[in-house]
Amino acid sequence: MLPTQSSGPGAFARFDLSRVPSPSFVVDEEKIRSNLKILTEIGKLSGAKVLLALKSFSMWSLASLIEEYLDGCCASGLWEARLAREKAFTGIKKQKILSTFCPAFRSTELEEICELSDHLVFNHPKASGVEYAASHQVSLGLRINPEISLGLDPKYDPCSKQSRLGWPISKLSESDLSPFEGLHFHTLCEQNFAPLLQTWKKIENALGSTLKKFSWINLGGGHHCTRSDYDQDGLIELIDEISQKYDCQVYLEPGEAVTLDAGILVGEVIDLMNSNAMHALLDLSATCHAPDVIEAPYRPALLGDIEDGQHPYLLGGASCLTADSFGEYRMNNPLRIGDRVAFLDQAHYTMVKTNTFNGVKLPAIAIWNSQTDNLSMVREFEYEEFVNRLS
Ligand SMILES: Cc1ncc(COP(=O)(O)O)c(C=O)c1O
Repeated sequence: MLPTQSSGPGAFARFDLSRVPSPSFVVDEEKIRSNLKILTEIGKLSGAKVLLALKSFSMWSLASLIEEYLDGCCASGLWEARLAREKAFTGIKKQKILSTFCPAFRSTELEEICELSDHLVFNHPKASGVEYAASHQVSLGLRINPEISLGLDPKYDPCSKQSRLGWPISKLSESDLSPFEGLHFHTLCEQNFAPLLQTWKKIENALGSTLKKFSWINLGGGHHCTRSDYDQDGLIELIDEISQKYDCQVYLEPGEAVTLDAGILVGEVIDLMNSNAMHALLDLSATCHAPDVIEAPYRPALLGDIEDGQHPYLLGGASCLTADSFGEYRMNNPLRIGDRVAFLDQAHYTMVKTNTFNGVKLPAIAIWNSQTDNLSMVREFEYEEFVNRLS
């Protein structure tokens, strides 16, 4: 079980949960702004360009806020690339960077992807589409597997021997590199600076002066650089060193760091059942609304959960999947039917992953400004969302 990265409720401690319909995602635009300011500062001091990884957070109603601070975004394929351009994550004049990586590109989509993207990152030197893209106006990059496993969970280790993500660095030869102007690696997940440094040292030892060939080097995501304990000075120093030594532009493409602690998922207690355990049955679903709870798995932080709380509950999800549970939480006061609950740090890898399994309602989406207390509902989902995905 992975630990939650939530650092607590922050401003959400004073948000009245009854102001939004249940279920709802509530995103604090001021918290996002403060994360963006940190990332901009890192970019300014180090010389890196910072891109938002859309796969973690694609909330296009906040695209103009994100674009105000970051240098662009990275997409995982055609649809995210289209979203980036259409919803102006890369600026109204499309002046900012769009970098697209996919483990494999469909040949039928490559023309459009090339038109949309500034950088196109391939998974191996002989990947299908490299030749086609090399004759288009897009800068090609190669994703490598640095073969140094520093993650918390082998299930999510892109550096494993059998990984399908990136070309193993030990197999890389100079002749493989001719079409590529850029180098890309993404190996970290919710990590501090030390594993990045170790990874970079491995790459530098393996590639040496070959690194001078690249005009850009993309260090991927997984850097939790907006967390209070993150070694930002170390990161800035390393990026500066890489850029100087190899005369290249360094890119970071964080997802989580942009929205850390910036969103909550609000739900309601629909029923209580005191059997062999005390169950609080919610209108929220781990499997439909926050699937990483089951997939990762991890236990999300809950507003009001206290280690020595007198009232333990198993918080059960709305679907009939046995595993649809958020886990055990302890409250100071007993829960009642109709009470609101809120899981913390729910902006990333949630909204982008929701589904309507069992006909479970999708959470509405609200933007809250913790400075002005202004609240706006940006989307509510009804039965049509469910039926329109079926036939
Ligand atoms: C290629 C790539 N870049 C960036 C990211 C963003 O990572 P994170 O949200 O952990 O910062 C991911 C996440 O899986 C990724 O696969």
